[in-house]
Formats: sequence, structure tokens, C-alpha cells
Amino acid sequence: MRVALGADHAGFELKVRLRAVLEERGVEVLDCGVDAPRPADYPDQAAAVAALVGRGEAERGVLVCGTGVGMAIAANKVAGVRAANCHELFVARLARAHNDANVLTLGARVVGAGLAEALVEAFLDTPYEGGRHERRVAKIGALDRPAGRD
Ligand code: RB5
Repeated sequence: MRVALGADHAGFELKVRLRAVLEERGVEVLDCGVDAPRPADYPDQAAAVAALVGRGEAERGVLVCGTGVGMAIAANKVAGVRAANCHELFVARLARAHNDANVLTLGARVVGAGLAEALVEAFLDTPYEGGRHERRVAKIGALDRPAGRD
């Protein structure tokens, strides 16, 4: 599996740890920065990760900022991206099983490193259930159309 990974300054330290965890699993990591904990604007890393996921060049994305909220808002602007900000395992599993979420956003100021690792593992390991969820996920995709068009 190929995973795009990104963080701002608030998420940098956790990103370093998650990159190691992902690589230990044999995941190919596309690291979209930041490369140092200097001030950064989270939409920049969100855009880089979301572009890779939206184009299908990465199967999943993981984005880390202080809360995970800004990353989710920004990533969800990109067509084909379904980003979920998760703080606990039940939501991370259902974001995959029901919503076919393809980007996980994490708040490094919200979750500890151990929980963050477990959230990533759940996000990678939980399959999409399809079935009754397919119509709803397709309706999410229909919202990707530019505003004002049919
Ligand atoms: C940076 O201070 C912080 O605003 C950012 O990491 C993130 O939490 C935004 O959603």
C-alpha cells in the first residue's frame, strides 16, 4: 500500500513517528512534509497529500496538525478525497467501513502517540463495507462537481 503523509509544525513530531510505524509495516510512504518543525501553513501539506490521493497515486493519506480540523477542512476541498478527523478507534473504523474515507486527519495536540498509531493501523486495516453505503458515498462524490453546474 502507498500512503501519502503530511503535517504542519504542530504535527511534525508525530509525523516522524507515524512514518516509522508505516515503514515498519511495509507501507510505501510519500512524505509531503514538513521536514522540520518550523511554522507551516497546514493547507499546503493538506493540498499535497490530497492531490496524491485524489489522483489515485496514493491509496490513503494521513495528515497531522494540532487538532486535525484544519487538515480535514482543506483536504476535503480536493475532488475524490474523503477526509475524516478521528480521535478514537470506533470512528476511525466506521470512517473506513461506512464512509470509505481515504484520508485520516489527526490532532497531535489531541491524541497521544500510542492512540495515533492505533488510529492509523485501524484506518489502514479496516475495509470499506460497500453495499448499502455505496449509494451514499456516490452522493458524496457528486458533491465534488464545481458549484453551479449540473
Ligand atoms: C497551528 O497552530 C494549528 O492551528 C494547526 O496545527 C491546526 O490545529 C489547524 O487546524
